[in-house]
Amino acid sequence: MAADKAVLKVGDKEIELPVLKGSAGQDVIDVRALGSIGYFTFDPGFMATGSCESEITFIDGAKGVLLHRGFSIEELARDADYLEVCYMLLHGNAPSSAEYADFKGTITRHTMVNESVNKFFQGFRPDAHPMAMLCGTVGAMSSFYHDDLDVSDQSMRLRSAYRLVAKMPTLVAMCYKYNIGQPFVYPRNDLSYAENFLNMMFSVPAEDYKVSPAVARAVDRIFTLHADHEQNASTSTVRLAGSSGANPYACIAAGVASLWGPAHGGANEACLNMLEEIGSVDKIPEYIAKAKDKSDPFRLMGFGHRVYKNYDPRATVMRESCHEVLQELKVDDPLLDVAMELERIALEDDYFKSKKLFPNVDFYSGIILKAIGIPTNMFTCIFALARTVGWISHWHEMLSQPGQKIGRPRQLYTGETQKPYTPIEK
Ligand code: SDX
Repeated sequence: MAADKAVLKVGDKEIELPVLKGSAGQDVIDVRALGSIGYFTFDPGFMATGSCESEITFIDGAKGVLLHRGFSIEELARDADYLEVCYMLLHGNAPSSAEYADFKGTITRHTMVNESVNKFFQGFRPDAHPMAMLCGTVGAMSSFYHDDLDVSDQSMRLRSAYRLVAKMPTLVAMCYKYNIGQPFVYPRNDLSYAENFLNMMFSVPAEDYKVSPAVARAVDRIFTLHADHEQNASTSTVRLAGSSGANPYACIAAGVASLWGPAHGGANEACLNMLEEIGSVDKIPEYIAKAKDKSDPFRLMGFGHRVYKNYDPRATVMRESCHEVLQELKVDDPLLDVAMELERIALEDDYFKSKKLFPNVDFYSGIILKAIGIPTNMFTCIFALARTVGWISHWHEMLSQPGQKIGRPRQLYTGETQKPYTPIEK
């Protein structure tokens, strides 16, 4: 709703722009009328641009607040499971016990993928990066669910969302099994969402596999901590792809592609590789110096965030889980010592304090995943699995909004101005 007005004077022109107030967070200046006086806004990287109106997730970067549908991430990580969070992200409210049971039953019964999906994997090199395989196979899912799909129909959108939430663990586990040359494991309806994922990842036909309840709890919490995060790069990618009416599986494949980057979801894999490269506590000062050196492209992976400028509340919960899991599994990983000391040093260092750099969600997740036995190159696939519900909830919300338009940014053109073309001798 318009709360106030901003007056913009430029040259001999002046325009009043409405200031819109949300239920929390920054007000926004509605610049849609700016074109009428012949100007565009210019904001590469969207440092100060609101791309949409949303009710799903709220972040307060200064206070380290993350809410999903008004519920704090700390409470959800403690008192809810991932499927409860999925329900509220998709439907807007926390589920009742009956709604939860019904939702869980539906998700459970959609975890299998078409048997033909196996054939897509045969085309990949055995050592293909799991994110390459995930990007390809999620996009390929659009070939199974396209002809009768009408994205303007809410029930069809929710059916696509349920299928994606249900099938991502199956596809992610298939990527892992293909990499290690073991047979794919079918989903089991008698297991919880996290237990089923772990079973598809680690069970083999040759013997029974017992899922550790502690590990399943940790994995479920990791899923919750990665479920959604406002208009981050991959979510914005899914929204932009979906704004044209594209197939939702293809849009989620675009989100997987964007998340893969080391500046985004790829940071958890890069962070663990960095901790392993540092190797021991005494090497930390050398890497801190590299991170500060402007001529060195090295960055401390797992540190810094575009929005959080004090701390990432997810990292705090993740750190607690890290200690619990390592204690429960009796894992004494020296990388945790390196991570804790790196965090301590970085938080005391003036450079990092001045740049507001501190551990983000990716800093501790890798240590937990490694302790669980998940290989480093699978970390971002886990992030993509968990984030799928956030991506598809934003896609669903966008297409539910009246007057939804295709996203089409403009630019500041700095190329050649018009000049005559001289045909060449051919
Ligand atoms: C995720 O958007 C989201 O919500 C993302 C996410 C989600 O849930 O979807 O939270 C998940 O992607 C978390 C971020 C994971 N990425 C990393 O850990 C990679 C390392 N971090 C950086 O690449 C960086 O901090 C970003 C990408 C996270 C944020 O980049 P910004 O906001 O564009 O900030 P910047 O790159 O302009 O950095 C500001 C300054 C720069 O120095 P100056 O040019 O001002 O001198 O801080 C420095 C940077 O050089 N800096 C770092 C640093 N991160 C920023 N210096 C050393 N190490 C780092 N990690």
